Amino acid sequence: MEYQITPFKPCDIEAVYEIECKSFAQPWEKKYFSLYASFRQGLPLETRVRSYARVARNNDEILGYIIWSNNERTGHGRVLNIAVREDVRRQNIGRDLMLHAVHHMREADMSRCQLEVRVSNFAAQRLYESLGMVRIGVIPKYYGDEDAIRYELAL
Ligand SMILES: CC(C)(COP(=O)(O)OP(=O)(O)OC[C@H]1O[C@@H](n2cnc3c(N)ncnc32)[C@H](O)[C@@H]1OP(=O)(O)O)[C@@H](O)C(=O)NCCC(=O)NCCS
Repeated sequence: MEYQITPFKPCDIEAVYEIECKSFAQPWEKKYFSLYASFRQGLPLETRVRSYARVARNNDEILGYIIWSNNERTGHGRVLNIAVREDVRRQNIGRDLMLHAVHHMREADMSRCQLEVRVSNFAAQRLYESLGMVRIGVIPKYYGDEDAIRYELAL
């Protein structure tokens, strides 16, 4: 499968939102994707926190996406969202999206990458562990209906 990792553009919102709705029981609202797609140089979430969105694209087809933030105050990068279209999973797209974000965090001098994942989401946990991420805690009821495992990678 050929693809490139490129900035998330307003014309990608529909395809990204469709993947989001098919991937998660509690999808993000579409308005958040509209916001991320509008900020090519990073969405300023708050002072010294900036977030970024990229898609994996095969010509005009969107195969997956990742959204992360860099907190310049704490030096922490955080993956906020990642998903790959169901019919193209297990082809390393998720891994490449993660590696892209981690590379960007290193370039931005972040000292660690963190993220949360549902305790039941074994596919994502395997992906993160294959990248060397380690479990640093469990957050009870992080998702309301389920606990989260917090993972971290030293950069
Ligand atoms: C998690 C997700 C992004 C992985 O994307 P992907 O492109 O299929 O993953 P990759 O092909 O890059 O997988 C890389 C490695 O992760 C692990 N992995 C990925 N999916 C797996 C699965 N279903 N079962 C077991 N291991 C899995 C494997 O180690 C895999 O390497 P391998 O194929 O050589 O064995 C994808 O399953 C997805 O979109 N899930 C729904 C959304 C989601 O759960 N996002 C994460 C929220 S925290």
